[in-house]
Amino acid sequence: MASGVEKLRAMRRQAQLGGGEKRIEAQHAKGKLTARERVLRLLDDGSFEEYDMFKQHRCTNFGLEQQQFLGDGVVTGSGTIDGRLVFVFSQDFTVLGGSLSETYAEKICKVMDMAMKMGAPLIGLNDSGGARIQEGIESLAAYAEIFQRNVMASGVIPQLSAVMGPCAGGAVYSPALTDVIIMVKKTSTMFVTGPKVVKAVTGEELSDEDLGGAMVHVAKSGVVHYAAEDEEECLVLLRKLLSYLPQNNLEEPPLLPCRDPYDRECPVLDSIIPDSPSKAYDMKELILEIVDEHEFLEQQRYFAPNIITGFARMNGRSVGIVANQPSYLAGVLDINASNKAARFVRLCDAFNVPILTLVDVPGFLPGSAQEYGGIIRHGAKLLYAYCEATVPKITLITRKAYGGAYDVMSSKHIRGDINYAWPSAEIAVMGAKGAVQVLHAREAAQAEDPAAFLAQKEKEYTESFANPYVAAGRGYVDDIIIPSRTRFRLIRALEMCSSKKDGNPPKKHGNIPL
Ligand code: HXC
Repeated sequence: MASGVEKLRAMRRQAQLGGGEKRIEAQHAKGKLTARERVLRLLDDGSFEEYDMFKQHRCTNFGLEQQQFLGDGVVTGSGTIDGRLVFVFSQDFTVLGGSLSETYAEKICKVMDMAMKMGAPLIGLNDSGGARIQEGIESLAAYAEIFQRNVMASGVIPQLSAVMGPCAGGAVYSPALTDVIIMVKKTSTMFVTGPKVVKAVTGEELSDEDLGGAMVHVAKSGVVHYAAEDEEECLVLLRKLLSYLPQNNLEEPPLLPCRDPYDRECPVLDSIIPDSPSKAYDMKELILEIVDEHEFLEQQRYFAPNIITGFARMNGRSVGIVANQPSYLAGVLDINASNKAARFVRLCDAFNVPILTLVDVPGFLPGSAQEYGGIIRHGAKLLYAYCEATVPKITLITRKAYGGAYDVMSSKHIRGDINYAWPSAEIAVMGAKGAVQVLHAREAAQAEDPAAFLAQKEKEYTESFANPYVAAGRGYVDDIIIPSRTRFRLIRALEMCSSKKDGNPPKKHGNIPL
């Protein structure tokens, strides 16, 4: 018996070495942790249960039978984060470059299936050279098994991905199918085809970083949600993100104790709106002012900054915030902003996170670039996402809410539960300048002083329409609130909605204009 235990211990030690000491040193030299080190830092101390530590690949091509590693390049198991169950897989670059074999994928699929059965989040830590070339088609088939599970799990359990090394070829599509992707600056890359293939096909010469580094994906492509400074920050971020999400779609996000008074006054908000309607202010200041302990986890900060998305808590309750940002492109809705916000709204709705929408939007961005790019289709995604969402939807119009953008941004008419406006709100079909041009151009041309005539008409239009009282008179806003009381009023609205039940007609699935 004693020798049996000794053998087990020895095999465990061997499995824990992955690809061996030398490769572990090489991994550390690149500023990267090993697969197991990452898992141990991610999970609560002592909570990790590893599965399939002794699994080995079955490939005999290219002499691969000579290269066997216990665990076959991926560490899988379960554990807890803040005491809540999660499942995890962590790709081990020290074993054949973390490349994915049939057996390796079986290990991942096993924890994916378990996560679905137990109704717990799945976290994938990616660091891999992609399909194990020696295995050929079996490796491709194995990827597809993972993709299928990613899709079945979508909207059922939260799926979070960290890219902590290379992630190339079709391998990018597993993270891409998950809810949130974090990349680590400098040490991670994501691309469908690497720089060598790009050069061969298009002649374009790019470094790995320039083609698929973290900043490319958070700022340009919008594929990735967060760029962490280093692996430590990446792992902390994963834990933090989970604190805003429930275990699965049938549960509520955790309600945490709140030390920040729910009725805290925010006097700075009484003067945050500039006197001139064409002057900008920073919507993030408003957000930080109203949320618990001024803490806001912004998502996709560098992509389409004209709209802000992210998580916060209000009186301990998790909320997803969508807000126009007047200090970038006047907060206009364009293609990227529509896509970014639509996906976030759907994430919140899938996981029972109430949505707080802060509106200051001049409309959709005009012009051929946007029209040719399909702003109609992309804008419709945001409209679709809001119309479909059944979680509590609380809206506050701080200033402009013009045209179609008024309707889209969680208006009363698309099932906004509580819609508030500040006294500074301007809710109308369009801004005064545009409206007057359309309505009075002919009269202006005949006037003695066309400029003065138009200015007078603009003033009349502003007084009659660019205010919240017409909408409040129709019941399209439920109340006009004092800015300094915003935190208190929004929290009360959220608490009132906490028992909300709403649904959509039964169907196979809708047809969102993708
Ligand atoms: C088998 C692989 C491998 C792979 C790396 N290795 N990738 N083995 N299959 N895909 C092995 C290397 O041979 C090497 O083994 C060890 O891992 C470390 O790799 P290095 O190249 O020394 O490391 P590094 O210089 O850091 O470069 C990492 C890398 C590079 C950028 C990932 O290895 C690389 O470009 N690999 C190929 C990437 C790729 O094209 N993959 C296929 C994508 S197609 P030794 O023993 O020599 O140290 C794909 C299809 C999926 O994934 C489709 C799903 C639908």
